[in-house]
Amino acid sequence: MYSKKVLDHFKNPRNQGKLEDANAVAQKGNPVCGDVMKIYLKIENGIIKDAKFETLGCAAAIAVSSLLTEYIKGMTLEEAKKVTKDDIIREADGLPPAKVHCSMLGIDAALTALKNYEEREK
Ligand code: FES
Repeated sequence: MYSKKVLDHFKNPRNQGKLEDANAVAQKGNPVCGDVMKIYLKIENGIIKDAKFETLGCAAAIAVSSLLTEYIKGMTLEEAKKVTKDDIIREADGLPPAKVHCSMLGIDAALTALKNYEEREK
């Protein structure tokens, strides 16, 4: 069973859609289920000022994408790079064991976006 928080973020996703002025973007897919998540970040002075997502996936993937964008907004790049699936699962008030892998989609996308951004800014 999903937690109330997961159901809420699935039914009313926060930060869903394209972020027009994003300066860090990445897309990740789960080869097993075929679900795809694209993350858009707006980074200014080393801080994630805004985050949005587009996810084609299961309820858990959508809820986790929503939770993740809320969670990392306001973080420094260093803080955001340390976010793990355990942080997100805790934020979600838990995920059913069969859905734990769904939490990785957003984290992988966010880490790739941060890496691309840092490589470009070097
Ligand atoms: Fe694919 Fe959840 S089943 S991300």
